[in-house]
Amino acid sequence: MRDISIEFPGVKALSNVDFQVESGKVYALVGANGAGKSTLMKVMAGAYDHYTGSIYFNGEEVSIRTPRDAKNLGIEIVYQEVDTALVPYLTVAENIMLNVLVNKMDKKVFVRWPQIHKAARQILSRLNIELDTNTIVDELKLAQKQMVLIARAIAEDCRFLILDEPTAPLSNTETDELFRLVRDLVKNHQVGVVFISHRLPEVFEICEDITIMKDGKVVTNQTLEGLTVNKVVEHMLGQKLSETFPKRHVHLGDVLLEVNNLTEEEGLVHHANMNVRAGEIVGIAGLVGAGKTEFCKTLFGALKTIDGEVVLKGKKLKVTSPYSAVTQGLALVPEERRREGVLVEEPVYSNLSSATLSKFSTPLGFIKAAAERLNAKKVITDLGIKTPHDAQKVAFLSGGNQQKVAVGKWLIADADIYIFDEPTKGVDVGAKHDIFELIGRLAEQGKGVIYASCEFTEILGITDRTYVMYDGTIVQELETKNITEEQLLFYSTGGK
Ligand SMILES: Nc1ncnc2c1ncn2[C@@H]1O[C@H](COP(=O)(O)OP(=O)(O)OP(=O)(O)O)[C@@H](O)[C@H]1O
Ligand SMILES: [Mg+2]
Repeated sequence: MRDISIEFPGVKALSNVDFQVESGKVYALVGANGAGKSTLMKVMAGAYDHYTGSIYFNGEEVSIRTPRDAKNLGIEIVYQEVDTALVPYLTVAENIMLNVLVNKMDKKVFVRWPQIHKAARQILSRLNIELDTNTIVDELKLAQKQMVLIARAIAEDCRFLILDEPTAPLSNTETDELFRLVRDLVKNHQVGVVFISHRLPEVFEICEDITIMKDGKVVTNQTLEGLTVNKVVEHMLGQKLSETFPKRHVHLGDVLLEVNNLTEEEGLVHHANMNVRAGEIVGIAGLVGAGKTEFCKTLFGALKTIDGEVVLKGKKLKVTSPYSAVTQGLALVPEERRREGVLVEEPVYSNLSSATLSKFSTPLGFIKAAAERLNAKKVITDLGIKTPHDAQKVAFLSGGNQQKVAVGKWLIADADIYIFDEPTKGVDVGAKHDIFELIGRLAEQGKGVIYASCEFTEILGITDRTYVMYDGTIVQELETKNITEEQLLFYSTGGK
């Protein structure tokens, strides 16, 4: 790709970018949230037709202006926004074979369903993924949806595969599986892979070359040899990052929240016991699939409780829905933020006040527009949300900036307990630091924080105390300062 530039209203997303991929190699593409990574890859995958510059394939100039153009050249992309790329009410098999099916329907070829399922099963087994091809995609977990998308890309004969933050929803073992697959594609099938990730250690594990972007431009393009994580961060942010985990003043008060024997209707969470003190950051550590998200959702009334009790400041709560949870002092930043955390069709400012509308309305229910905009501007600066203005539609923000909006809207909510479910997923290192700082500030104000994460370094870095979840229940309580990552892993995998 040579001299690629593209603009959106108010944003110059790429300026004069050169980028090159060879077969049989894995390339890293990194940069802060909003740097232009996804946009560059969307250009390569034919998602836009209004860019300038030229693209060459095997030395010959080609025109990539539609997804079909890209597919014809064997370029496949697995988008960052997993849920928008899948058809939720179709089966796993149909989603994997979607492009093949659409092609057949275009040509009015008869579809033989047993064959479609068989082909899908073959791809899944090649990827070592255990999934029933008859399952409706909507019922899958995020990690499984991601796998379906990768399987779809493989279903077509692909020569270049773009993976836009594929590992964000994956557990360590799932990531290892994915890397095994990527290595196989690269070595045995000469596929060229572009790998976008905010998890820099992974980049060093799987990639050979790296391109670092900042503000729509390429900062450097080189082999990974001789580089370090710190050096990459410096290129990305244009400055050194002194410390990832900010220091905070810990002052623990009385027990704020007590969870006794919490059990969810379908048993996804059962017999869970824990408590949170005022001013305390309490971790919920566990592998992907341990039930952390379900635990958070049950607490928040998004899943149905059938047994147990939740006591806040000595008062037993009656949480029947997320709305009732909010009115009783709970706030949740959910894991699947694009689906549950933001209103993508709405502007940034109304998203930022959507959790706390009562603050911005008059007694008659009118919105205090000025106060709302002022709040939005503050959160945008505090979290460094990259947007041309506060009225931009959230759908037009980069993936990581959408996450920041989802986190940001709760920061002014006047809750007693803040529940964060994997809040740093897809967020760049600089923004992570900002989010940790804000969470620390909430604790300093005497709030209780629940921090659910499968990133054990984060659990160790910011919590005071942590619980480990395994198989839908809390199996262990630990004082954070006394533990190691190995111990967390031990309990997270069922160790006793
Ligand atoms: N369709 C669009 N309309 C308006 N602005 C857009 C659009 N797509 C991208 N942008 C803007 O272009 C810039 C680059 O966005 P891009 O999604 O490429 O970032 P990114 O590097 O992938 O970030 P992240 O790590 O957060 O995913 C951002 O400022 C974003 O808001
Ligand atoms: Mg992106």
